[in-house]
Amino acid sequence: MQFNYHPPMHQVPPPHIKALSPDFETPHFKQALSRFATGVTVITTFAPGAHKGDSVSSSFVGITASSFNSVSLTPPLVLWSLGQSASSAPLFHAGTHYVVNVLAADQLDVCNRFAFGKGDRFADTAYTLGASGLPILDGALAWFECHNRSRHEEGDHVIFVGEVERCGFSDGSAPLVYQGGRFSTTVALS
Ligand SMILES: Cc1cc2nc3c(=O)[nH]c(=O)nc-3n(C[C@H](O)[C@H](O)[C@H](O)COP(=O)(O)O)c2cc1C
Repeated sequence: MQFNYHPPMHQVPPPHIKALSPDFETPHFKQALSRFATGVTVITTFAPGAHKGDSVSSSFVGITASSFNSVSLTPPLVLWSLGQSASSAPLFHAGTHYVVNVLAADQLDVCNRFAFGKGDRFADTAYTLGASGLPILDGALAWFECHNRSRHEEGDHVIFVGEVERCGFSDGSAPLVYQGGRFSTTVALS
């Protein structure tokens, strides 16, 4: 069934009108955004050339990201956004695939490692390789192996849209939740 909604003409802004300049400072914007509770993911991809013989450097990079969201069921699409200044940004641009790992409440150490860790973030991280050859983190609540379908530069971030080739999940574990700059988990209300 097709859903045709035509808003009254007076509610549609004319296309030539641009956004007004913000009437707030960035910290205020960040505080408002932080009220939105999200899950936490670690997104992993391949780092070609990073593996040097027997050195501790792994062949992978990964970052903590709370910007993950669903886009489409058919085809199966997800999105997340990456800061342009992230050192791993060139690798996420160039790679054909990445894995989105949804963290469980008992993975706060993993979250911090992939947000702030120096050196090889995989050295103390347990994982298995998925069909794309990329790390699926042990203990993740869910994982999505994605083809790097498209990228959209917007402001100081790039929105990545991934086409999900394979996914999996576990039942029973609680999610890691990020809200107001703090970590928690869910409490059922219904
Ligand atoms: C809870 C949390 C959520 C984050 N979400 C994002 C995100 O969605 N996108 C992003 O670019 N950085 C995000 N970050 C920051 C990155 O994890 C961090 O800047 C990144 O690991 C930098 O790594 P790199 O410079 O080595 O690539 C988040 C950090 C935390 C602690």
